[in-house]
Amino acid sequence: MTPKLLRGRVLSFKSRPQARDDHASYVYEEDGAVLVENGRISAAGRYAEVRLNSPIGVELIDHRPLLLMAGFIDPHIHFPQMQVTASYAANLLEWLNTYTFVEEQRFADAAHSARFAKLFFDELLRQGTTTAAAYCSVHKGSADAFFAEATRRNLLMVGGKVMMDRNAPLALTDTAQSSYDDTKSVIADWHGKGRNHVAITPRFAITSSPAQLEAAGTLAREHPDLLIQTHLSENNAEIAYTMELYPEARDYTDVYARHGLLTRKMLLGHAIHLSDREMDAIAEAGSVAVHCPTSNLFLGSGLFDLKRLKEHGVRTAIATDIGGGSSYSLLRTLDEAYKIQQLRGHRLPPIENFWQATRGNAEALGLVDRIGTLDPGTDADIIALDASATPAMAIRMETVETLEEELFVLQTLGDDRSVRQVYVAGEAV
Ligand code: GUN
Ligand code: ZN
Repeated sequence: MTPKLLRGRVLSFKSRPQARDDHASYVYEEDGAVLVENGRISAAGRYAEVRLNSPIGVELIDHRPLLLMAGFIDPHIHFPQMQVTASYAANLLEWLNTYTFVEEQRFADAAHSARFAKLFFDELLRQGTTTAAAYCSVHKGSADAFFAEATRRNLLMVGGKVMMDRNAPLALTDTAQSSYDDTKSVIADWHGKGRNHVAITPRFAITSSPAQLEAAGTLAREHPDLLIQTHLSENNAEIAYTMELYPEARDYTDVYARHGLLTRKMLLGHAIHLSDREMDAIAEAGSVAVHCPTSNLFLGSGLFDLKRLKEHGVRTAIATDIGGGSSYSLLRTLDEAYKIQQLRGHRLPPIENFWQATRGNAEALGLVDRIGTLDPGTDADIIALDASATPAMAIRMETVETLEEELFVLQTLGDDRSVRQVYVAGEAV
């Protein structure tokens, strides 16, 4: 692999921005460069300096005036739901039963899974998403297809075979034992192979018996380095039914805590309707509340309470939740997240949004030593963004003077058209 010197306007985050003008939270070089060698970033900073320290024969790729950033990270998405997006339903449970649990049955078929694994990663990369944490279907073969394709493309992907043993069509259920066994073999076959990470994936409390959550807890104890992903408090009817199924639990969060699943490795999709007690328990455990704004609006689930979650010290992330979500684009997702906080009377500065979609999501996945920044030593998953990608954006950009304003234009008007180049482990895709 020839070393590459990517020249452009370089942006990388250092910490969560505390205000709209928190310049200490990021580094930005107007005439910057990123040096890529053997799939990793070996230097980033001012072009003149990085150029001086580049090896002889380096390939110079000039992306000016585009913005070079770490690739977007989508920490909650459903691989088998590409054909579920844009399905008309009144609420979460109707949407699951009418469309989702029907569509996911098709992933019993290996050829179907293989076809959609290709389509899925094609779409993510088109959108500048270089890492995702994905739910596969209940079928072990869907996880095999997912990881086989991720390996072929040298992508850093997190995925898990969904565990679900009740309250779903028979063809879409496993058992506590088979879900344990299948997850074990997915881990043995794929975790640590290439850049793959396997996640323990009990779908949610409604579709898992207590025995299955127990099995998930056992997996979490046996593999403390693995991420865990599930859904929490997305919809009021879901919460009421969960409390009927788990009457001994204090609240929905306690259902997972009782089974040893509320840990620092846990990604809690949605986490909308939470009491103070639940937020405290989640904060203490170090679990992550994953905001899925387009999905929460689309399914009418509710408005994520970012301000309260932050006040309680809960770690956060932002994700598309395709197919409940209505866009694969993290830019579109940041826009909807901003609007939800507007409705809640809470300011969400664009730099905090862009931190969240990159470094913040990497921290949520515990992978910031590999992805989410342009720090030397990390994997070279890099995107080049164009804030003037459409005529309307170009006109708006004529009056933009600061980086913060430019990021706001990108999140408000941008989509896949703003993603002009994507590098995966240093290779252009
Ligand atoms: N809760 C349980 N399964 C799902 C799912 O597939 N999508 C969403 N949005 N919520 C869920
Ligand atoms: Zn989901």
